[in-house]
Amino acid sequence: MPGVLRLWETSPSGLDPRVDAFLSSLSVDSRLLEVDLEGSTAHAAMLGSAGVIPASWSGALTSALSSMLADARAGTLSPDVGAEDVHSFIEQELTRRLGDTGKAVHAGRSRNDQVALDVRLYLRTAFREARDGILDVMGALCDLASAHVETYMPAYTHMRRAQPSTLAFHLLAWCAALERDYGRFADAAARADECPLGSAAVAGSGLPLNREAVANALGFKQPTRNAMDSTGDRDACVEYASAAATLLMHLSRFCEEIILWSGAEFGFMDIADECSTGSSIMPQKRNPDVAELIRGKTGRVYGSLVALLTLQKGLPLGYDRDLQEDKAAVFDVHDTLAGVLPAFTALVEALRPKPAAMAAALETGFAEATDLAELLVAKGVPFRDGYAATKIAVSIASAKGTSLADLDDDDLAKATGVFAKAGIKAADLAEYLKPAACVARRSITGGPAPVRVKEELQRLRAFINLHLSR
Ligand code: ARG
Repeated sequence: MPGVLRLWETSPSGLDPRVDAFLSSLSVDSRLLEVDLEGSTAHAAMLGSAGVIPASWSGALTSALSSMLADARAGTLSPDVGAEDVHSFIEQELTRRLGDTGKAVHAGRSRNDQVALDVRLYLRTAFREARDGILDVMGALCDLASAHVETYMPAYTHMRRAQPSTLAFHLLAWCAALERDYGRFADAAARADECPLGSAAVAGSGLPLNREAVANALGFKQPTRNAMDSTGDRDACVEYASAAATLLMHLSRFCEEIILWSGAEFGFMDIADECSTGSSIMPQKRNPDVAELIRGKTGRVYGSLVALLTLQKGLPLGYDRDLQEDKAAVFDVHDTLAGVLPAFTALVEALRPKPAAMAAALETGFAEATDLAELLVAKGVPFRDGYAATKIAVSIASAKGTSLADLDDDDLAKATGVFAKAGIKAADLAEYLKPAACVARRSITGGPAPVRVKEELQRLRAFINLHLSR
């Protein structure tokens, strides 16, 4: 903007206005105003306590920065559109408020340090919000699962009926994925817990800065270990976007199931009206738009992750201006998660399972076939022989249009002598092959038996209660 000198200008350079506008990051990074003010306050306080500037200057700087922070929180401090970025704006505003003392704030730091710090402070909140949002989703899944521990349905592989299972078990499968997602955000947050301030652009400063004090004041575990790495490093952004991409990949897969299951072809559940939409032309329609939009947002988050990785792949150390592009990607991921996670929780709360339709899907398709083969194993038949005998039994039942439980002794005899040899009578099968019996037998660790699922629900609820930060 004409009349406003850049921080790096000592006389007006007459920057080409097209370039000036192009280089400005203010419209994006003004979101960092509050965190930058927090960082600037800690830095200014340290400059005084370390004796780099007089205590009176440091006091004036910290009190002006605190009042700017209060103004920013109240919404009465908005960055001047002419500033090159939020960091420049803060120094210009400090100088406007304090005169020459404002010019002392930048000793021992660079905008490179500031932006690296601000992104970490911003991500600290973003990591926590993502984790809380995941816990909310898990809580909703656990609530639904608790009501469906004995709601029997097929488990699928290749989208074909595979083995008897329950809705609760299926929901807890998604909880297992979400627990890993939670861990990814937690791990990334722990790695990002280092303060880059004091890197002084790239190779540190000869001033007696107390980086430990600044790190401590800002709630970081420690300062970063290498000034050159600190200002050129955006791993925390990549890890955030990567954890978000994996999370959304999971949610998107589940959305796909919800879309299929809530359609007439599966008919396994309805989506309550609060979470489904109608058509402007087709009066009969109820559409799963929430699930579809989450599936769509997933691509958008992948895009941000790829942008973050790609923008860094050719960058030599230390800071390069390419890195300015990091924030748009991170903010977009953050905004997307802020929309997706509550919407997904609402969607889970709006699911209305139809247990009868799920049970009906177990009546055909021979999902209980593995159980018959395992019965033979339990009677001492080698698995491959039991498998072959069961396969024949399946084709006999299929030709008769019955289920395995309806076969008679003649049918079993036709399916090889293995059944008779193993002492298996057709009459025994009806009880043995009921979905409830098949599921109850799967009581090993990680199995769908109600006893295991109830234990898992208890463990998950304890995990959620332990980690919820609000
Ligand atoms: N606006 C810049 C960014 O977002 C801040 C750092 C600028 N540093 C510099 N040396 N030009 O990355």
